[in-house]
Amino acid sequence: MHSNIKRKIGRHLHTEMLAPASASIPSVDSAATPAQLRRFFYAAYCDTPAPFRWLSAIRPYVCPYDKLVPFIRDDAEVLDVGCGAGSLLTLLAAMKKIRRGVGCDVMAPPLESARAAAQRVGAQGILTFEHVRSVAEAPEGPFDVVAMVDVLHHVPPGSRSDVFAAAAQRVKPGGIFLYKDMTARPGGRRLAHNIDDYIFTREWVEQVPEGAVETWAGDHRLALVHGEFIPRLIYGHELRVFQRLEH
Ligand SMILES: C[S@@+](CC[C@H](N)C(=O)[O-])C[C@H]1O[C@@H](n2cnc3c(N)ncnc32)[C@H](O)[C@@H]1O
Repeated sequence: MHSNIKRKIGRHLHTEMLAPASASIPSVDSAATPAQLRRFFYAAYCDTPAPFRWLSAIRPYVCPYDKLVPFIRDDAEVLDVGCGAGSLLTLLAAMKKIRRGVGCDVMAPPLESARAAAQRVGAQGILTFEHVRSVAEAPEGPFDVVAMVDVLHHVPPGSRSDVFAAAAQRVKPGGIFLYKDMTARPGGRRLAHNIDDYIFTREWVEQVPEGAVETWAGDHRLALVHGEFIPRLIYGHELRVFQRLEH
């Protein structure tokens, strides 16, 4: 997303004094379909100006949150690295699935959307969103779950292993590292992602090469417990769930 546009979101949001919502927030649970998530996000992000509210609403058709939620343990403390507008944490809090959630991001304006959505779903007491210059500034935790969703392809290739390491260090022994990013497999799905990101960021992104995260995870005592390729619409997703070894 273009940084000037993101700054405009920040100026539009006043989380201290939210206007009454025009509609109540639909309830969601772990079995929610993308269509149900669309309705949930459209209501929860009612304070975010169009077209970003619409983009938040349609994101479940692009990003398979429904496939990520089952890997979050009930009552977990979760760190979402590169949380953007906080969709994952807002959803988890609305599902009453987590005890506490901390989101961090290098871009400040989407965090205003995140705070407003957290307030809308009544989760301002358990969700916090922090602007950081790098993941190294994020709360150290350790956390039951650290999530990193569609972040690394935005990080310059030379810095990716460091960003991954900083996130991995924040996972408790026995805890979960939930990684999802766009597929690097050659073909139309990778191209669709490149075009999509070019439209929104003017950046021709370089996806994370196949096998890279598995290598970095091994360096941080993270064992792969689930790996999946998830096709969705014209996009392709690589989901990897790691568990940190106890000792
Ligand atoms: C495509 S968005 C994904 C946002 C969110 N995870 C989601 O799934 O909706 C990528 C996010 O990664 C953030 N980001 C990029 N580099 C980062 C870094 N080094 N540390 C933390 N966040 C970063 C961007 O600012 C952006 O908000």
